[in-house]
Amino acid sequence: MNALHTAWEKLIEEESRRQKGRTDQDLWRPRLHIAPPAGWLNDPNGLCQYKGIYHAFYQLAYFQPEGGLKFWGHCTSRDLLHWEFQGVPLCPDQPFDCHGAYSGSALIEEDQMYLFYTGNVKLLGEHDYVNTGRESNTVMAVSSDGMRVDTKELLMTNGDYPDDLTRHVRDPKVWKQDGRYYMVLGARTREDEGTVLLFSSEDKKRWNYVHRFRMEKPFGYMWECPDLYVLDGHTVLSISPQGVEQDGLRFANKYQSGTCFLSGDFRETKALGEFRELDGGFDFYAPQTFLADDGRRIQIGWMGMPDMEKVYRNWTVGRGWQNMLTIPRELSVRDGILCQNPVRELKEWWKEERRIKGTYSGPLEPCCELELTTEGGDVKVVLAGGLVLRYEKAEGIFWMEFTDPLLGGGRDIRGRQVGALQELRILVDVSGVEVFLNGGQDVFSTRFYPEKDQYHAAIEGDGIEGVLRYREG
Ligand code: FRU
Repeated sequence: MNALHTAWEKLIEEESRRQKGRTDQDLWRPRLHIAPPAGWLNDPNGLCQYKGIYHAFYQLAYFQPEGGLKFWGHCTSRDLLHWEFQGVPLCPDQPFDCHGAYSGSALIEEDQMYLFYTGNVKLLGEHDYVNTGRESNTVMAVSSDGMRVDTKELLMTNGDYPDDLTRHVRDPKVWKQDGRYYMVLGARTREDEGTVLLFSSEDKKRWNYVHRFRMEKPFGYMWECPDLYVLDGHTVLSISPQGVEQDGLRFANKYQSGTCFLSGDFRETKALGEFRELDGGFDFYAPQTFLADDGRRIQIGWMGMPDMEKVYRNWTVGRGWQNMLTIPRELSVRDGILCQNPVRELKEWWKEERRIKGTYSGPLEPCCELELTTEGGDVKVVLAGGLVLRYEKAEGIFWMEFTDPLLGGGRDIRGRQVGALQELRILVDVSGVEVFLNGGQDVFSTRFYPEKDQYHAAIEGDGIEGVLRYREG
């Protein structure tokens, strides 16, 4: 333990004492979703199941609700729904990570937890921080109890990455397969092309570059937070590209997150299939997955969007915290489409339910779920009087639109071609809404900020039936 680490621990402890109870009392605090006890949260990191317990780490600027120096926050859960904050185990306290313990992943082996992450360093001076002035270090931290970090080891620096890259190389996702370790890293080339690098290792410490994944035509200038996994027989590459131009309804957010299928062995194939966005709403970025002990591939994303501070307001900033993660989602492939659905544990969360048949208008609990089936015609669901979820059969488009600017904090409208609509599942958790269509083939996520007495739903559409689930208090 060095003096800098000890100083951080002390400051973190003081800050948690100062904040205690403050954010918990906040009316916009989610019940099910992971949110920071104080400060700013972004990407999920180091997701894993360790000795039976689920661990979720996340990017945390503990002292700066508007974003700033990044640490890893940590929470644990037995059911992916009740999360308990466990502190801030990864701090920027070494020369190789002094300007941020950036995103990364976890690998569990022989009861040890290995955390791979990017140590961010920004040098003083006249730099563009793209081609000069930035160090992106790949670091491995080891924990023997899943709570505290015992050691940190620098594995790779910019000199170890291919020569044609800028200084932007980050977000290691590591896994073990066929007796070897593999790592994907997101990168930006000097030609401003986003790419994912594949490395392999025999011992987790010495890494060899294998090859890179790229699109046939350049697709954005930087790919962040890569993930590679096998799902129902398909090899999936998940990426968060930056710099992709809007194309009609597609790519409407500042940055994207989506998946491509890979044909053949990922160690040999470089060509990627078509990129499909994972979410059609306003707030979804940098997802990561992990394999649960029971074989489920579970994904959690950041329910937010970088660099939107001036456009989307999150009204909790003044209350000392900002952002949350998505509900953990089970992934599957159906009819060649990657589907996301809330983890099955959610069914157990609800205590009450009310049947809905036809038009409905009534109050909502701030944490609830609507599960509806339709006859395929137009559907309109208005939440809190100002968030309109609308399906237009003629065009096959599903829209998410804020008609109340305060409620959406500046978010306006997003739409997506979804074909026919049969099922609609809406999860409301106080200040977040996730909409799952047709068994999770399409998903829309957004934050929203209703006043205390504003929780309400109005539902219209032919042959709508379903159930409203909730849990009081
Ligand atoms: C994505 C990202 C990552 C980086 C982290 C820093 O949101 O930019 O690429 O590691 O956030 O907080």
